[in-house]
Amino acid sequence: VKVTFVSSKGTRREVEVAEGETAREAALFNDVPGIDGDCGGVCACATCHVHVDPAWIDKVGRLADDSMESDLLQFAEGTSEYSRLACQIPIMPELDGLVLHVPEQQY
Ligand code: FES
Repeated sequence: VKVTFVSSKGTRREVEVAEGETAREAALFNDVPGIDGDCGGVCACATCHVHVDPAWIDKVGRLADDSMESDLLQFAEGTSEYSRLACQIPIMPELDGLVLHVPEQQY
């Protein structure tokens, strides 16, 4: 499954991700800068914040209200209606071609 990360400066990085890995792992395993994922991917740090490309938000799913993820994202810098935590995005075959925008900084 291919996922493209776009940096805040517009640099695009396409990486190959195994099905079932998360978008956080996709970034970390491929040294994509800008995603820290400090907590190890257990939805406890908010340093894996990404903006899902608007064209993909419906497939990925929007942030659920009242979730741990939305609580955490309140601590993230510059969130938008497309914000998600990358560790909470499992990569499935239907997400092939997914585009994620990496924020300039995580906090
Ligand atoms: Fe910590 Fe996603 S890696 S919240």
